[in-house]
Amino acid sequence: MTLDGQQPEAIAAAVDALAAGRLVGLPTETVYGLAADAGNDAAVRAIFAAKGRPADHPLIVHVASAEGVAAFAAEVPPFAQRLIDAFWPGPLTLILPRRPGVADAAAGGHPTIGLRCPSHPVAHALLSAAAARGIAGLAAPSANRFGRISPTTAAHVAAEFGADLLVLDGGACAVGIESTIIDCTRGAPVLLRPGQLPRARIEQVAGTRMLSKEEMSAPDPQAPGTLSAHYAPRAKLRLMNARELRTALELLGADAKNIAVWARTPLHSESRQLVLRRMPDDADAAAQQLFAVLRGFDEAQVKLIWVEAVPDDGAWDGVRDRLARAAASA
Ligand code: TXA
Ligand code: MG
Repeated sequence: MTLDGQQPEAIAAAVDALAAGRLVGLPTETVYGLAADAGNDAAVRAIFAAKGRPADHPLIVHVASAEGVAAFAAEVPPFAQRLIDAFWPGPLTLILPRRPGVADAAAGGHPTIGLRCPSHPVAHALLSAAAARGIAGLAAPSANRFGRISPTTAAHVAAEFGADLLVLDGGACAVGIESTIIDCTRGAPVLLRPGQLPRARIEQVAGTRMLSKEEMSAPDPQAPGTLSAHYAPRAKLRLMNARELRTALELLGADAKNIAVWARTPLHSESRQLVLRRMPDDADAAAQQLFAVLRGFDEAQVKLIWVEAVPDDGAWDGVRDRLARAAASA
């Protein structure tokens, strides 16, 4: 059942569901989440079961405000506090040392916890109402089945999990790809997953260079957001440059079918069966559309998705990362 998240009755119904240990589809500014009371291990296990996600892959816990951190984190390094002050509420997740005994299931047994304070007004309303009922945080992975495309509308969530799930409709997500994840447990910030926050701004606020996963000697092998194949459409996705795309379309001519193309460069095909969509020139706009475009291509039942490789520029890091993973599954 999908309810309008702007209605107070919808928030009340969602808090009742959470308090009863049930799951709720939650809009955030990045993607929709599948939420449960982070303090209820049985409810959190239901998230893993619904997603088909291995139980040792940790979930992000969402809090209503920066004050919520103390309930879950044992310690906040000064650079992490500066990131919280600058970017929360917003599309930033911090990995922090976990307070022993809290959110065990959500943390997947790891000694750390991923925390984020989302800026979406419906998420904020639900988190505040839940906090008032003694629910300190909501564990919520993206509301998609394991390895598949993250949902950016309420309809996507309903399509993944069926009509039985209570989904709060908060419209189309404004950011469109998942939060930037920074590991703050290693003395210096380590980027685990790029999102739409620019690296330069993060480093300026943190007051230090951000390391990449590759620079760390012991990367955590369990983080699915860090698996090379993830975010996969059903069709095979290939990244090509503009020249390769143009040549391929010319060679196929009127025979091009079961193919979808997403490109910034204007392209032409003689085929009327080719699905051709323009990628925005702006990285934020492209991120906002990315997952909905890939879902749309799957719905059109194409066999191949050809995407123009994105510019080699920091603004495109998040989109480039998601596209590379989608291509790695092909
Ligand atoms: O934008 C987002 O972050 C969305 C919305 C719903 O908030 N959530 C999201 O969750 O993308 P999920 O579960 O699909 O991805 C969370 C990522 C995973 O790669 C997970 O391994 C990593 O965060 N993660 C969570 N807790 C962690 C921890 N303690 N240590 C390392 N990685 C962690
Ligand atoms: Mg996910």
